[in-house]
Amino acid sequence: MRLPLLILLASLLVSCGKKAPEPISYREQIQPILNTRCISCHGDQRAEGDIVLTSYESLMASRIKPGKKPLVVPESYPKSWLYILCSTDQAHYRMPPDTLDLTLLPKAEIALIADWITQGAKNN
Ligand code: HEC
Repeated sequence: MRLPLLILLASLLVSCGKKAPEPISYREQIQPILNTRCISCHGDQRAEGDIVLTSYESLMASRIKPGKKPLVVPESYPKSWLYILCSTDQAHYRMPPDTLDLTLLPKAEIALIADWITQGAKNN
C-alpha cells in the first residue's frame, strides 16, 4: 500500500509544479489583433471573401471558400484557417495580403492566436 501512495503523492507534486499557461482573453487579446490587422478589409462595410472579423460570432461563423472549412477549430490551431492564413510562409495566400505595411503578423500575435485556440477558442 505504501509505495503506490508515495508514487501518487510524487506525481501530484510534479503536476502542481507545472506552470499553467496564461489564459488568453478573446476580448482583450484576440479581437484587438483582428481590429488592427484585418477589419479594414473584413469589416461590415467591406467584407473581402465574405469574411467578417468584427466579432467572436462572425469569426466563428466564417468559412473559407475552398471546402468551406472553419477559420477556428477549437483546440486545434493547425486545422484553424485563421492560424494557417496568418502564419504561412506562402506569401500568395497569407493574410493580411502582401500589399500593405500591415503584412505579416508578429510572432507574438501568431502565438497568442494559437494559444487561444488551444485553450478552446472561448468567448472570454
Ligand atoms: C488589405 C486587405 C486585407 C486585409 C488587411 C486582410 N485581408 Fe483577408 N482577404 C483579403 C482579400 C482581397 C481576400 C480574397 C477575397 C476573395 O478571394 O474573394 C481575403 C480573403 C480572406 C479569407 C478567405 C480565404 C478563402 O480562401 O476563402 C480569410 C479567411 C481572410 N482573408 C482572413 C484574414 C485575416 C485573419 C486577416 C487579418 C489577420 C485578413 N484577412 C486581413 C483582403 C484582406
